[in-house]
Amino acid sequence: MTMAGKTIIIGITGSIAAYKACGIVNILKKDSFDVKVILTKEGAQFVTPLTLQTLSGNKVLTDMFELPDMWNPVHTSLADSASLVLIAPATANVIGKLANGICDDLLSCVVYATKAPVVIAPAMNEKMYNHKIVQGNIAGLKKIGYSFVGPVKGRLACGHDAIGHIADIGDIVKEAKRLLR
Ligand SMILES: Cc1cc2nc3c(=O)[nH]c(=O)nc-3n(C[C@H](O)[C@H](O)[C@H](O)COP(=O)(O)O)c2cc1C
Repeated sequence: MTMAGKTIIIGITGSIAAYKACGIVNILKKDSFDVKVILTKEGAQFVTPLTLQTLSGNKVLTDMFELPDMWNPVHTSLADSASLVLIAPATANVIGKLANGICDDLLSCVVYATKAPVVIAPAMNEKMYNHKIVQGNIAGLKKIGYSFVGPVKGRLACGHDAIGHIADIGDIVKEAKRLLR
């Protein structure tokens, strides 16, 4: 399915699974979506803006306070332009922020300011994922209509197989497209 004219904002956060987001950006771009990447400060420890800019064909956004080319604030104009916001991978940190009203960076502000559907693909260590606070945050976000894909059982950064591995990128793209129909 191609989606010319639809803008997907992909938020990439500070997980070892961030490299998988390059594959997601690549698929969405080939499917003719307009792909805009928001990379958190910690996300940029794992993948470079240059890689994501080259794959997406758009400027990679990280800083809410960078002076915009236009008069309007970057977080609200981005939020208005979105057909869908996808956060992949999503850290325990960003899930916690979104569930608890914290918007202290570009990605969290865009999520709060958009009316577009939000898809979240968590990735983290299984003890973090199973923590009651993380589980409570996920339940709260599901309750307000955010869609979750994974995590799944797989090889984690710590070296063993457990729940917390990012979902298959094909499944993440499939869910994004389902919500855009
Ligand atoms: C090597 C390494 C791998 C990490 N992987 C994850 C991860 O997969 N999931 C997670 O929730 N946090 C992970 N973290 C911790 C996050 O990077 C940290 O919570 C950070 O503040 C997240 O910021 P962000 O959500 O704004 O991107 C990792 C940290 C390091 C140093």
